[in-house]
Amino acid sequence: NAVYLPATTVGKLLLSAYQESLEIVQAALEPSRQRRSTPISPKNVFTFFRQTEPETQEISRAAEIFQTTLQVLKNRAKHMEPALLSWDDVELIAELSQCPPETHSTICQHSHLNKYRSISGLCNNRENPRWGAVNIPLIRWLPAEYEDGEREPKGWNRGQLYNGFQLPLPREVSTKILRSSSKQEDEVYSEILVEWGQYIDHDITLTPQSTGSAAFWTGFECLTTCENMHPCFPILETAETGEQGCMPFFRSSPACLDNHSSEIGVSVLQRQQMNSITSFIDASVVYGTTPKLESHLRDLSGLNGKLAINDQFKDPKGRPFLPNVATLPSACLQGPAGERVECFSAGDSRVNEGLPLTSLHTLWLREHNRIAEALKLINDHWSPETIYQETRKIIGALHQIITMRDYVPKIIGSESYEHYIGTYGGYDPTTNPSASNVFATAAFRFGHATIPPILRRLNESFKEHEHFPDLRLQNTFFNPWRIVKEGGIEPVLRGAIGAAAKTVSADMLLTEELTERLVVLNMQQHMDLASLNLQRGRDHALPGYNDWRGFCGLTPIKTLDDFKEVVRDYNIAEKIFEIYKHPDNIDVWLGGLVEHFLAGSRTGPLFACLIGKQMKALRDGDRFWWEAEGMFSQQQKVELLKASLSQIICENTNIREVLPDSFMFRKYPSDYIPCEHIPSMNFEAWREEKSQDLKQCGTPREIKNGDFILSSMTGKLVALYSCYHGFKLKGAAAIVCEGNQWNGQPPQCTGI
Ligand code: HEM
Ligand SMILES: *[C@@H]1O[C@H](CO)[C@@H](O)[C@H](O)[C@H]1NC(C)=O
Ligand SMILES: *[C@@H]1O[C@H](CO)[C@@H](O)[C@H](O)[C@H]1NC(C)=O
Repeated sequence: NAVYLPATTVGKLLLSAYQESLEIVQAALEPSRQRRSTPISPKNVFTFFRQTEPETQEISRAAEIFQTTLQVLKNRAKHMEPALLSWDDVELIAELSQCPPETHSTICQHSHLNKYRSISGLCNNRENPRWGAVNIPLIRWLPAEYEDGEREPKGWNRGQLYNGFQLPLPREVSTKILRSSSKQEDEVYSEILVEWGQYIDHDITLTPQSTGSAAFWTGFECLTTCENMHPCFPILETAETGEQGCMPFFRSSPACLDNHSSEIGVSVLQRQQMNSITSFIDASVVYGTTPKLESHLRDLSGLNGKLAINDQFKDPKGRPFLPNVATLPSACLQGPAGERVECFSAGDSRVNEGLPLTSLHTLWLREHNRIAEALKLINDHWSPETIYQETRKIIGALHQIITMRDYVPKIIGSESYEHYIGTYGGYDPTTNPSASNVFATAAFRFGHATIPPILRRLNESFKEHEHFPDLRLQNTFFNPWRIVKEGGIEPVLRGAIGAAAKTVSADMLLTEELTERLVVLNMQQHMDLASLNLQRGRDHALPGYNDWRGFCGLTPIKTLDDFKEVVRDYNIAEKIFEIYKHPDNIDVWLGGLVEHFLAGSRTGPLFACLIGKQMKALRDGDRFWWEAEGMFSQQQKVELLKASLSQIICENTNIREVLPDSFMFRKYPSDYIPCEHIPSMNFEAWREEKSQDLKQCGTPREIKNGDFILSSMTGKLVALYSCYHGFKLKGAAAIVCEGNQWNGQPPQCTGI
């Protein structure tokens, strides 16, 4: 409560603080906003790599204003600590900042009609519509530990001590502990296990970074400054650094005020970070998370329920590639000669980051179009929208099956799987399926230590390709031309299924290709993924390694001997103790990474716990989980379970021999079998006879710029119309089959 000041004064103070912060944020954002409308130059590959949707940018901006207002208030009037503000005042600031209003569960009233997931994830949980949806805060399983309690990252003020010691510089930790010139082979799994990890992560989290490139308070450019100035939090080379002695780092964008963000009693005023995509394993990586992107990715004019394909290039066998991004010329790197190959677009903006990732995206584009064709053959009476949605539903289920059945148990081990995830017990509306901060920022980044320095490209006999040889990793970033001009996705996919994965070992963590030569930003400097991960954890104020061990019920590390037991590499344990000086100070990503694997897993006990808990939440809290009641018929489930990554590779590429489980590694040709022997789905299980009602009422009328789906979930046959993005629905969205006729006229979709 605002104790000292009469209400009018508080109001004035709030308003003027808001106005000041608006100016600060606008000054910082305007230049980058203008830049966005012009083609992106290679200089901005960094922002491009994680380009977020306009909706996300608006919310980021609102959240920056909200946060800045709190800061201004704090600086202005010492007795006006934001903590003393009344809830109404805080809500007023949020409203002034244009943070989205609270979403009431009433908006989900009619969502029982919706047979399919919404594109934004909204109303998956009817009581808490925003759970798992786009642009909500990453949830906290433990409260944040900011240096000032509310918003300054750990390590922001160099003098600050933790348990009596300064935190070591991320770059120092990276060079002394994480950087490695060699990687050890995994004898059991293939490289595609690593690639699937990145791919599925891009279905679950995307943490947007501050959109402005200029620091708010001073106008410095984050790209050039080595000082900590919001939102710049540069990665210093050494403690005594000159102007050239740092790598640029943008803080993650703050989140708007959200009452549901805090599971536990953390201050609502603490800075939170956002997940700008749906957390659900819902193939958002294929379809996008906004209506605009979704419609850009669809082949709407084809009236066939398919996804759009590249209209310029096809692979040597005539198979399609992903469509280009909308804004040309794009920032992707170009080959030595010949025509330009633009960046691809897909449901996730990071699609061009690497060749295996792009190949997986391409695979799913083709699989969607293959299934859409099969369903159309079987159900000729389905509308294009029905074909699209039914296919999307199957593709979503396949992402869930491959992840939960084939991927997760290999990563955390069957014992942890049993312990943290267990058998499916049906949809649980009290489980919050949102992505947690520690999962996105630390635990699931375990995969960064499994990335090989060399990308293999293999020919039909799974030998190094005679025309397209192996590549150093640094030559694979943002290089879509290597797919288009160098034999399609097959050489890369064969390399991914035909070569052994790399494994994490405490003394061989991240390859130098990533710590010294990461291209995210095509600048003079290369980036360091290890430092980015550590700095990101501090930016998000994640509690330390020991706190998380406690969270997972593991014994805390008190002494070097404790640590040696957990790490089992004495040398590394000693080095980490030497650099961090106190076990509580160890960054959670590093601590989790060096833990000795549990038997039959690829993670130590801490990451197994954190990944296991997240996966369980993503499954149990998803109303549209493929095994949930009413989602698929028994027969359909049997068919879905026949699917595998191997089958999807067989169906959509020129690869003719695979292992039944592509995540396993065998040296070709041992145990490889012809594609004809890999089980495949039979879509007969989706055959739908016209219902009696439909026969009587007749097929509902088609409309321009929109389409309908049929639903009989309420007992009556309903035709539910929707308009394509950019059109507005006029009239009633639903018509009902009553008696022998539709009870009204279909709506119209008019241009806005
Ligand atoms: C060549 C392969 C890869 C490259 C170049 C790469 C690069 C990156 C970069 C640059 C970031 C942003 C770092 C930051 O600024 O905080 C990132 C984030 C992340 N990466 Fe990777 N990565 C790769 C593979 C993987 C794999 C195999 C996994 C998991 C198995 C993974 C999991 C993640 C996760 C969870 C994030 C956080 C995503 C978010 O919430 O925004 N990555 N990666
Ligand atoms: C949000 O939380 C605050 C403080 O905990 C509470 O006073 C307020 O009623 C909540 N608002 C809603 C809409 O739940
Ligand atoms: C694949 O490449 C190897 C040499 O790297 C060669 O011996 C073999 O004949 C090639 N196989 C095919 C099918 O082209």
